[in-house]
Amino acid sequence: MKRLSILGSTGSIGRNTLEIVARFPEKYSVAALAAKSNLALLCEQIRRFKPELAVVYDEKLAAELKNMLPNSEMPRILFGTDGYRASAALASADMVVTAMVGAAGVLPTLAAIDAGHDIALANKETLVVAGEIVMQKAAARKINIIPVDSEHSAIFQCLAGNRSQDVDKIILTASGGPFANTSADAMAAITPEAALKHPNWQMGPKITIDSATLMNKGLEVIEAKWLFGVSLSQVEVVVHPQSIIHSMVAYRDGSILAQLGIPDMKGAIAFALSHPERLPLGQPLPDFTGSGGIGGLTFQLPDKEKFPCLELAYGAAESGGTMPAVMNAANEIAVAAFLKHRISFTHIPEIIRIVMDAHPVITNPDIEALIEADRWSRAITLKQIDVN
Ligand SMILES: NC(=O)c1ccc[n+]([C@@H]2O[C@H](COP(=O)([O-])OP(=O)(O)OC[C@H]3O[C@@H](n4cnc5c(N)ncnc54)[C@H](OP(=O)(O)O)[C@@H]3O)[C@@H](O)[C@H]2O)c1
Repeated sequence: MKRLSILGSTGSIGRNTLEIVARFPEKYSVAALAAKSNLALLCEQIRRFKPELAVVYDEKLAAELKNMLPNSEMPRILFGTDGYRASAALASADMVVTAMVGAAGVLPTLAAIDAGHDIALANKETLVVAGEIVMQKAAARKINIIPVDSEHSAIFQCLAGNRSQDVDKIILTASGGPFANTSADAMAAITPEAALKHPNWQMGPKITIDSATLMNKGLEVIEAKWLFGVSLSQVEVVVHPQSIIHSMVAYRDGSILAQLGIPDMKGAIAFALSHPERLPLGQPLPDFTGSGGIGGLTFQLPDKEKFPCLELAYGAAESGGTMPAVMNAANEIAVAAFLKHRISFTHIPEIIRIVMDAHPVITNPDIEALIEADRWSRAITLKQIDVN
């Protein structure tokens, strides 16, 4: 029986994780659930999965949650950063699922490592902001960080049984998002409603917009660099609109290993929980030959001019130090402003670029310097949005 602390339990990854827990009750139980403010769903999850700890964003929400539960079903309830850290460090947990969104995942992830817990990592922003520190600490404590992101799960699976020194390239596939075929002239008029309709994946709003701008792929390039210890130049992006090949690893003998499956996050989530076992999920296999099958898998290069976020991410990773944290925070604020109709789709990369250009990079930052860079970037980005 593996006990899970699930951070971000009310989100898309969190809900899918709990579906797997519900399907395999002999294998998984819930030690802690953490969310931000969706109290109705969190309450339902608490009653069903009976965690010993629940965490919400602030004190007021914690008081509201207490009022919603009968005493007989009341877990310990905490709030804020200390609460999220406590849920990640909970002694009775065996594994922490980091499925909260954004840089808010950094401190709980570090707390999980300090507590000696393995991590199923969905929160890619943590590695973008603090990849070097997180991976060093995890290695020192011999903590397994198993990727939940479908691309990184694919790479993790394609690397198994091979020597890291034989890896030539990591090839990340990208769906291209809903605007792969939109003309450059029409990009500025894209609405949040249109951008929230991803062709292949059902995800939370922030990552869905990141997928539409290709920032998601940029964040994943940085995530791959840290997770798999490769150089930036070894990570390539290929647009593959069918999302059947979840990613590939090319080896120096010219062999390429790919991992395939239907686009459904349950496969990658389940594998992160059960590794090295594979759970009998009963997922349909991709249909290679039937009518409506996937006979026509296609691949193309990403359009870097139409989607400047990808290059911004490579640039941030090349600059290193505090720059990826600054880029990530600027992106979080710009995406939130776009979702509120305050800026246009094409303003997202423009604003991120302005903020990155204004940032004097600090090399070899400690965690405090990264948090300060994140705070600085958020403030400058908000000012920049007001100017627009
Ligand atoms: N969805 C996918 O298919 C997918 C695939 C690969 C990777 N990921 C990564 O997984 C993470 C979660 O994505 P998602 O799509 O599941 O997001 P989501 O649906 O928006 O859910 C986010 C979760 O985090 C909580 N949360 C939001 N802000 C928070 C904060 N400041 N502090 C603590 N908790 C907070 C939310 O609580 P409330 O509901 O109460 O607001 C919710 O439980 C992201 O890093 C994303 O990049 C997602």
